[in-house]
Amino acid sequence: MYLCICRAIRERDVDAAVRAGARKPADVFRACGKRPQCGTCACDMRERIGQTVREEASQPSLMAAD
Ligand code: FES
Repeated sequence: MYLCICRAIRERDVDAAVRAGARKPADVFRACGKRPQCGTCACDMRERIGQTVREEASQPSLMAAD
């Protein structure tokens, strides 16, 4: 599912950026090599980042495997 329509950033793109260290929407855009346009996605992106960070924290063995 797309979180950012303007720049075609999907949930899985956000998840990958979080695993690479992104902790805010600007980090995700940077990781994807894109720049924000309208900013409408920022709230949903923050929510997804938080969710992914919590999931990663609850599964430390999976993080070590990456
Ligand atoms: S929806 Fe992400 S910048 Fe517009």
